[in-house]
Amino acid sequence: MKKSLKILVLAGDGIGPEVVDQALRVLDAVKGDSKFEFSIQHELIGGAAFEVHKEHFPETTKKACEDADIILFGAVGGPLSEQMNPKWKNCEVNSILALRKLLDLFANVRPIKIDESLIKISPLRLEKFLPKTPDLVIIRELTGDLYFGDKGRRENGTVAFDECTYSTDQIERITNFAFNLARKRRKVIHSIDKANVLETSKLWRETVSRISNDNLDIEQHTMLVDNCAMQLITNPTIFDTVLTSNMFGDILSDAAAVIPGSLGLLASASFGSSGKWLFEPPSGSAPDIAGKDIANPIGMIRCIAMMFEMATEEIMIHDKIEQAISRTLDKHIYTADLQFENHNPVACSKFTDLFLENLHL
Ligand code: IPM
Ligand code: MG
Repeated sequence: MKKSLKILVLAGDGIGPEVVDQALRVLDAVKGDSKFEFSIQHELIGGAAFEVHKEHFPETTKKACEDADIILFGAVGGPLSEQMNPKWKNCEVNSILALRKLLDLFANVRPIKIDESLIKISPLRLEKFLPKTPDLVIIRELTGDLYFGDKGRRENGTVAFDECTYSTDQIERITNFAFNLARKRRKVIHSIDKANVLETSKLWRETVSRISNDNLDIEQHTMLVDNCAMQLITNPTIFDTVLTSNMFGDILSDAAAVIPGSLGLLASASFGSSGKWLFEPPSGSAPDIAGKDIANPIGMIRCIAMMFEMATEEIMIHDKIEQAISRTLDKHIYTADLQFENHNPVACSKFTDLFLENLHL
C-alpha cells in the first residue's frame, strides 16, 4: 500500500487560484508515478479568508497547516492602491509571514535557471556566457531580520523603526542547510551580507566562516549585498549556492528573476524545523492581471516539480515535469510575460493544456 501524504492547498488571492489550478492538473497527471498517495485539502488564506472569516489566517487554516505534510501556497495580497481597505491591510504580514512563523519555516530555496530556448528573450545578454548558462540557487533565511524584529512608531508617530536581529542559532541552521545543499550541487557557496555596516552581518559572517572551516570540501566566498546585486545581473554564471538573510534574499531573488526573464518562471520551497515543506512561487498575487487567465503558470508548476525533488525525493518525477516545461518552451509557447518578437501569447490554462501534451511524450 502506498504511504499517504497530506497536501494542503492555500490558493489565496490574485493570480494564486488560477496558477494553483494549473499546478493541480499537473500533479494529477504525474501522481501515479509516485510511491506516495496524496490527499488534498483546500483552505482559505489572505484576502480570500478575510471575506469569509474577517481574518487573514483563521484558526481552521492554522490547524490544517499544522496537520499537513506539504503545503502548496499560491499568493496573498491586494492592489497597492487598496492597502487601507481592511481586507488587504497587513494581509501579507498576517498570512504568509504568520504561516512562516507558525511552522518555523526557516529555509527558503529559490532556484534560478534558464532554459536554453529562453536565452534569446532574456533581457540580459547571456549568449556571451555560452556554453555556460546561469544555474544558481538562493538560500534565503526566513525567520529573522527586519521581518520579525520589534517594529513600531515613536515620537508621536513621526519616527518608525523595524529592528533587525539574528541569533547565532538562526544563522547556524540556515548555513548548515546551505552547505548540505551546496554539497549536492557544484560545491560553491557565496554568503551575502553587509558586514561593512551591519552588526547582524558581522555575526552572520563570523558564523558562516566558522562553519565553513568544518566543511572544507565546499568552496566558500563572501560578497557584499550591493555588489552581489550587480554580479547577479552582469556575471550570473559565477554563482552556484547563494546564502543570505531574509531581507537581502527577498530583494536578490527578485533581481535574479531578470536572468530567466520573468518572475513567473520561478518556484520556491520553504523547509521548517518540524520537517514540513511549503512550496510557493515568489511572484506574488499580481492583482493587475488576476482573473484574466494570462498569468504564467510555470512558477507554480515548478513548485510541483520541487515538491517531488525535495519533499518526496522522487527526482524522476521532478525531471519529467522540468523536461516537459523545456519542450513546451522550445516550441515558443509562451504566456504574455515572455515577450518574443510577434508571437501571440497563450493563456495560462492553454499553456497547461500544451504542457500536458508534452508531458506524455
Ligand atoms: C516573497 C514575498 C514576501 C516576502 C511578501 C509577500 C511578504 O515578497 O516571498 O518574496 O517578502 O517574503
Ligand atoms: Mg519577494
